[in-house]
Amino acid sequence: MHDVADHLTAEAPKIPPMQKQGGMLGAAVNNWVPHKIQLRDAWFPLAHTFAVGDKPVRRSIYSHPYFLWRESGRVVASEFHPSEKQTRPASALTRGTGRYPVMEHYGYVWGWFGNPDAASESHLPSLPILPPNGGLPHHMLGTVRFDCCAPLSLENLIDLTHADFLHANVVGDEKSESEDIQFFWDTESITMVRTCTGKSVAPVMRFFSGIKSKTQNVRQVIRIYLRSHCAIAYGRFDPGDDVPLFHPCVPETRDRTRLDYAMNTSHTHKLFRYVMPKASYVVSRQDSYMTSPQSPRYMHLEQRRDLHSKFDGPGQRYRVLMQELADRQAAGDFTYRDNVSEDCSDIIGLRREFRY
Ligand SMILES: [Fe+2]
Repeated sequence: MHDVADHLTAEAPKIPPMQKQGGMLGAAVNNWVPHKIQLRDAWFPLAHTFAVGDKPVRRSIYSHPYFLWRESGRVVASEFHPSEKQTRPASALTRGTGRYPVMEHYGYVWGWFGNPDAASESHLPSLPILPPNGGLPHHMLGTVRFDCCAPLSLENLIDLTHADFLHANVVGDEKSESEDIQFFWDTESITMVRTCTGKSVAPVMRFFSGIKSKTQNVRQVIRIYLRSHCAIAYGRFDPGDDVPLFHPCVPETRDRTRLDYAMNTSHTHKLFRYVMPKASYVVSRQDSYMTSPQSPRYMHLEQRRDLHSKFDGPGQRYRVLMQELADRQAAGDFTYRDNVSEDCSDIIGLRREFRY
């Protein structure tokens, strides 16, 4: 079988040399204040398409209201509720029109946050785990919230080793015969690939997929699109099922995150297909237990050093990339230097038979 991990090692020129992970990187990592980062010119997945009908629903990005509804079937995103008396002026985010750029794709309504003139479909993140025109059954979709700023939620996600401890009762503990972690990036995304052999079988698969063996080989990918604060979390379990999860972290406010997730279990064992997406409610509470108390500690720059592990390479790189983007935007440069909409099926190692 085509081994994507090998493909990545061979093809990705940006795998960082580990010896460069100190010095300046350390300083940038320690100056991480995610509450102050507010990136512009990006699409955010504001709602599952089924949630938007003729009656307006309210969402927000960094406290800016986005009212969503349909007019003759077409979705509209407005700063104002249609019945609202317009007592405040429309913002620059809509160039004074009151209407944001909006589009539908992958079963989501995407709102543009930034300069409306820069809105382009070419800046929509590639999400090959989802059907382009949506239509996943509702039991695969759900909504959870974190009382945590969005970059911290994503930083927690990309350090996948946390799952062995925090989510051991769902996805299995830390015991494995071998573990390998690789990560690579461009200016708009970071991808981490974790490969384990002989890992304790995920309890959820033992019960609902009927996996009898004690261990399984696991390949997990986390791919984060920096500006859109969206992640793909794709696990391949052998024996077992694939778990392709779309994990957006929309910053409703600086310290509150909304996650309209989609777990595409179309290709899994029948019982697992229904149960696994609901596990998100258990897993997200466990994450929230960890990240909610952390969030306020990152509101201001502190003298106290951050006690991250120096082995947490992907998380540190995520911080640096976010800061670089923020610095570039502060200097007035909002361009995309890398293409986020280019199909990333090969990068995440999506099985050919699961591609749309
Ligand atoms: Fe987690």
